Amino acid sequence: MNSSDLKEEISDLKVKHNAIILAHNYQIDEVQEIADYTGDSFGLSKLAASTDAEIIVFCGVLFMAESAVILSPEKTVLQPDLQAGCPLADSITPEALQAKKKEYPEAVVVCYVNSSADVKALSDICCTSANAVKVVNSLAERQVLFVPDKNLAFYVAAHTKKEIIPWDGCCSIHHKVVVDDLYKQRKLHPDGIIVVHPECRPEVTALADFVGSTAEIIRFARETASNKLIIGTEIGTLYRLKNDNPHKEFHLVSEELICPDMKLNNLSKIRDALLNKQPQVNVPVQTRKEAFAALERMLQVNDY
Ligand code: 13P
Repeated sequence: MNSSDLKEEISDLKVKHNAIILAHNYQIDEVQEIADYTGDSFGLSKLAASTDAEIIVFCGVLFMAESAVILSPEKTVLQPDLQAGCPLADSITPEALQAKKKEYPEAVVVCYVNSSADVKALSDICCTSANAVKVVNSLAERQVLFVPDKNLAFYVAAHTKKEIIPWDGCCSIHHKVVVDDLYKQRKLHPDGIIVVHPECRPEVTALADFVGSTAEIIRFARETASNKLIIGTEIGTLYRLKNDNPHKEFHLVSEELICPDMKLNNLSKIRDALLNKQPQVNVPVQTRKEAFAALERMLQVNDY
């Protein structure tokens, strides 16, 4: 079946089952084309919490679909390819977090959403890359155990007076970007401005002209007067950047910025998911309730 037939079938199935398709900005172009909403982790969480669709087809990676289940437990949440995970989220287990919490009994635990439901359940509050600084600065405690992304933790530490204790995890894709990549791109495009994700190394974010979540990068690119942008986040973001700004030039800071997990969902898997109402993502009730408290607390801090 060709892609336009698949798109038509997906559109019919969506109406038939009262379904909505949510896609992360890193999904392949064809998935972003048919999504009802494309966004960053924060925007997708908010939408999952507020949609009145009965079925959410979540095109992202597992921790994102789990967050949708936690925020909208009465809905059926489908993830077209269940293999799509996040190595960063897998870098922390609930047992390891329990042990760390004992080392720092005074610390409040802030958990980046790129984490499992079990880890969220043990945390005081969640954050995304869009609101991490705001979340941390909203807390009364002085000491913060920030898990699992050390680069985001360093970024937050540079924007708060609180003591940040980072977990030793990182996104292997963003962590690949080194300062030399920025210098090379600056040489090739001297009039280009550098825009990176806060999951990049601290020496990279320190050199950038703008640091933000994928949605913030997309908004910044629309609003900036600059016509040439050097982009330090996953390649999928280029789809929206180029569509929104056909007259602007975008250069990926490194050709290696490709997340293989994010590329697993595709049109035929979405069609199959809608046809079979499978694969479903589920979270055990107790974990769901505890993780909900951390996610809900984050949503209350943020009002944009
Ligand atoms: P955003 O919250 O910016 O979409 O980032 C999610 C992510 O997984 C980055 O690697």
